[in-house]
Amino acid sequence: MSTRHFLTLMDLSADELHQLIERAMELKHMQRQGQIHEPLKNRVLAMVFEKSSTRTRVSFETGMAQLGGHAMFLSPRDTQFGRGEPIEDSARVLSRMVDAIMIRTFEHEKIERFAEYSSAPVINALTDQYHPCQLLADMQTWFEQRGDIRGATVTFIGDGNNMCHSYINAARQFDFRLHIATPPSYRPDAGIVAAAGDRVTLFEQPLEAARGSDLVVTDVWASMGQEEEQSERQKEFAAFQVNRELMDQANGDALFMHCLPAHRGEEVTAEIIDDPQSVVWDEAENRLHAQKALLEFLMV
Ligand code: CP
Ligand code: NVA
Repeated sequence: MSTRHFLTLMDLSADELHQLIERAMELKHMQRQGQIHEPLKNRVLAMVFEKSSTRTRVSFETGMAQLGGHAMFLSPRDTQFGRGEPIEDSARVLSRMVDAIMIRTFEHEKIERFAEYSSAPVINALTDQYHPCQLLADMQTWFEQRGDIRGATVTFIGDGNNMCHSYINAARQFDFRLHIATPPSYRPDAGIVAAAGDRVTLFEQPLEAARGSDLVVTDVWASMGQEEEQSERQKEFAAFQVNRELMDQANGDALFMHCLPAHRGEEVTAEIIDDPQSVVWDEAENRLHAQKALLEFLMV
């Protein structure tokens, strides 16, 4: 069988994704029971980080250790990645030595090219376009709290960025309705939206988008690599804050999620992120369990 990669949520079937979420919940339970489960003994995951990370690095490294394997952190500063070695060459060399490769980078095309030349599974740990690993954790968190998400209404408020694109793919694979509210110049990619058909509706009024919602999600206004746009974006997104007024439009039992790191007082108020409706800490912890399920799926 040819090598499976996880570059977007569309690389797995809907059934495989649902099984993966079930497995993540099982692995979490096993971990809590103190059960040792080491199917990846002697296996190595290379982790290439061209952007900063706390959650992704710690969850992959911890996950590999718990599964009996090893994770290796590689930064462009002290490898040939930062000195212009061709992606095709790096992919062929690295995949001859390690068992899987996780990459966090800028252009999505870069990881696609890497995967094309890699004989080992490649995992997207965030590109400018997508953040599929985060969605595994978000879906696990929803399933734990509320059961199946099929038919629910989810609202994404803010920038039409990598998180927004991955939510669009999740709406297709997990079969929920997605409302997206962004300023007009920050809409998600039109092709990604079109592929989701009538599951996705775009709004310009955040309060309207949040009406009747079961889950409200937001993300930072300026992503990694957009730091110099911070002050401009702060003005553009001022009306797109998740606050009490916005959450009051959603259903009474609506949950709040944020991939973190968050900027309290910008995209979300401190009141909402620290409210019982917010499940951001479970969401962060589930990065570990969901990615262990992913590593098992790709490597065993
Ligand atoms: N949510 C997320 O990917 O966090 P890090 O940037 O800390 O990895
Ligand atoms: N959209 C954010 C997500 C961080 C986890 C970024 O790309 O910086």
